[in-house]
Amino acid sequence: QQAEQSVLYQAYELSAKWYHHILKNMAQGRDAMNYLRSRGFTDKWIDFFQIGFAPPMWDRLAAFLEKRQFSLPLMDKGGLVTARTEGGGYYDKFRDRIIFPITDFKGRVIAFAGRAMGDAQPKYLNSPETMLFNKSRSLYNFHHARPNIRKQQSVVLFEGYVDVIKAWGAGVNNGVATMGTALTEEHANLIRKNAEQAIVCYDGDSAGQAAAFKSIPILQKANMHVKIAMMPPGIDPDEFIAAYGGDRFQHEIIDGAVPAVKFKLLYARKNFNLADSANWPQYINTAVKLIAELETPVEREHYISELAAEFRYSPESIRQQLNEERQIFL
Ligand code: GTP
Ligand code: MN
Ligand code: MN
Ligand code: MN
Ligand code: MN
Repeated sequence: QQAEQSVLYQAYELSAKWYHHILKNMAQGRDAMNYLRSRGFTDKWIDFFQIGFAPPMWDRLAAFLEKRQFSLPLMDKGGLVTARTEGGGYYDKFRDRIIFPITDFKGRVIAFAGRAMGDAQPKYLNSPETMLFNKSRSLYNFHHARPNIRKQQSVVLFEGYVDVIKAWGAGVNNGVATMGTALTEEHANLIRKNAEQAIVCYDGDSAGQAAAFKSIPILQKANMHVKIAMMPPGIDPDEFIAAYGGDRFQHEIIDGAVPAVKFKLLYARKNFNLADSANWPQYINTAVKLIAELETPVEREHYISELAAEFRYSPESIRQQLNEERQIFL
């Protein structure tokens, strides 16, 4: 087991180098390189993140690994190749995909995410879970970002690998992403060991906003201070940076992140037609419940005033409703 693990680390490291070499130096990698360039990836970040390309042929990596004396059954167990169901032999797990190596907290390659260049499905193919790779514990870019996360006591959570890379290029060097899966308690606890604050910067589409909403209690349960970066509707961080530049991303989106309760208040508005004042009391009711969860009177007062001012109710009436709510709540 120990011996297999150490062989697998070597195989992943070597495979990452091989994919990277193909992207950078081989004719087969040219289209992939052009694709990356068209999406604003520079050589510097392609190298830093060791991005690669898996050629479209069936078994190039398998042949390469076999030539280096790696056992293909072990490579299969490790998720790099797959045994053919007929005729024997092995074929590559990743073909015709851009390769993003995933590293552990020590910077060792433990898995790959492969992105299709065209419309091939799935858009992303990830390595399976192996003796090296556990999705619910892995965070993309954690190894690079950790010193910055600790220094700033703040982490930025992104949805995608590309968002992390683009943000890094824009100077946001404390960003990580989950492996296309929901944030887990394990992720939250890992992050909490390194920072007090989490800024959730998910895509501005409804899936991203719903995922951001769900991440809040998970992070709060780990005792983190949570903020949400508000993306323009339908835009993701990678697209924002491409369209408006890294400076605006940093100053407007990251620095402008709002407290979790503010996000929840905004998010709740989607369920009410507030153009019609007949719906105001219902929204106020929902809003008061959210404000009631805040721990300090000062925080609660802030949102009470805001709500009162917006809907032209007296702060006293809202405060009274809130006190009733807190009695139920506590
Ligand atoms: P890129 O900018 O090229 O990454 O495309 P996108 O912004 O449209 O990606 P999207 O927002 O759909 O995906 C965000 C993240 O979700 C990715 O980085 C993956 O981790 C994950 N993801 C997206 N599509 C798939 C998929 O088909 N399979 C798996 N396993 N994960 C996916
Ligand atoms: Mn390189
Ligand atoms: Mn998305
Ligand atoms: Mn996206
Ligand atoms: Mn994107």
